[in-house]
Amino acid sequence: EDPAPYHEEVADPRRRDFINIAAVAFAGVGAGVVVLPLVNQMNPSADVLAQATTEIDLSKIAAGQAIKTSFRKQPLFVRNLTPAEIAAADAVPLSELRDPQSLEERTKGKKNWLITMGVCTHLGCVPLGAGEGENKGPFGGYFCPCHGSAYDTAARIRKGPAPTNLVVPDYAFSSDTTVTVG
Ligand code: FES
Repeated sequence: EDPAPYHEEVADPRRRDFINIAAVAFAGVGAGVVVLPLVNQMNPSADVLAQATTEIDLSKIAAGQAIKTSFRKQPLFVRNLTPAEIAAADAVPLSELRDPQSLEERTKGKKNWLITMGVCTHLGCVPLGAGEGENKGPFGGYFCPCHGSAYDTAARIRKGPAPTNLVVPDYAFSSDTTVTVG
């Protein structure tokens, strides 16, 4: 007999593919509408974060002390170097360094203030040395407990697997006792 036109259409493979594709496309659009706002909520501030600055009160950090704070959600070390620590950094010939940089180049006009990210350049652990009583390592700067990278008093890599010095972020002194990072 003459089948109903509806069955004919659905039995046609091209027609069925079209229906399936349309259904998938529609589901995709629907999911996109629902998911996008969620993604935005979970990651509210990628742009805001990239522009965020951190202000640090230096008056609380005595000579010889270092603090661990954060900048753009990553650990940040701020160290007030003693004259002996400055001298130790200055005494190292650049030719002996894996990532040659002088303390002068790593600071901005005030050599005692060493401001670096607290993220080991090997695999990203947080080195020790910025908290009271923490192991500063054999070069007196920072020591990464994960695989033994040792940084000197200018936070330059001296031993262990880390390829480069601790990163110095952008910063500027807004007064004698305040620094703005970022
Ligand atoms: Fe620091 Fe490997 S992550 S030494």
